[in-house]
Amino acid sequence: NEIKLFTPATVANVACGFDVLGFCLDTIGDEMTVRKVDKKGIFITKSEGFNLPTETEKNVAGVSALAMYEALQPDCGFEIEIKKNIKPGSGIGSSSASAVGSIFGMNQLLGQPLNCEELIAYALKGEALASGAEHADNLAPVLYGGFTLVKSCNPVKILELPTPEDLFAVIIHPQIEVKTSEARNILPDKVPLKDAITQWCNIGSLVHALHTADYDLLSNSLTDVIVEPHRKALIPYFDDLKANALQNGALGCGISGSGPSVFALTKGKATAKKVSEAFDKVYSDSGINYHIYVSPI
Ligand code: HSE
Repeated sequence: NEIKLFTPATVANVACGFDVLGFCLDTIGDEMTVRKVDKKGIFITKSEGFNLPTETEKNVAGVSALAMYEALQPDCGFEIEIKKNIKPGSGIGSSSASAVGSIFGMNQLLGQPLNCEELIAYALKGEALASGAEHADNLAPVLYGGFTLVKSCNPVKILELPTPEDLFAVIIHPQIEVKTSEARNILPDKVPLKDAITQWCNIGSLVHALHTADYDLLSNSLTDVIVEPHRKALIPYFDDLKANALQNGALGCGISGSGPSVFALTKGKATAKKVSEAFDKVYSDSGINYHIYVSPI
């Protein structure tokens, strides 16, 4: 009657895939417990780390759980415990890990009445509480692992993409908070056609590169001409981080989700280590507190 979960951190956008592309970080994430109880309702009974609200309606895990609970109307209730390791507002999918964890756990305890795409539809409600918009680019890789492409949110349609062997992600997280809603508000409503062409060319190429394990094409496609130019001002020393990562062998480097975390992709662990050192060099004398993570994908 109880399930313990690891709910992973994720990187959304992946440079050219704003709101549609994402990948899962295998080794960074939250811990959650979901328990079936007789008393009807959804109860957040424990929330450790980062002082998040335990009122169901104000907690991302609670909101997605409630949406699913009200639709299914099971003859029981659920308690949810959350040990948050992913800092909210870090840009590595903190809210998505919570939004997916609660409903994945409930679905397992109810005998899996829902498939993954149906689960995403409820998780979107929790994600919207955190970011003010329903987008599934962080949610999908939490649930599916690896790389995912959100073909559409309504109806939910997720494509699982292959991950070339030996692909690593390096993340640097400056300890400043960037609210997704604010990072979305600074984006323009209109995009010049020539930038749109570059971007859809890159996302198409990136998907092809994942399918063919073509690292050169992957590297060539990891650029963002639409969102990054506006958001990079929110991230201290972004240009230096990117230049250092590329000089040290990264395949590409960009803003993770809505920031402030920055990600780089590398072929192999040794290069990932070099890139993490390059990131470290940029921030070590800056007075900024930061964390660096290296994870296989
Ligand atoms: N695609 C989203 C954004 C991810 O960049 O705003 C952050 O939740």
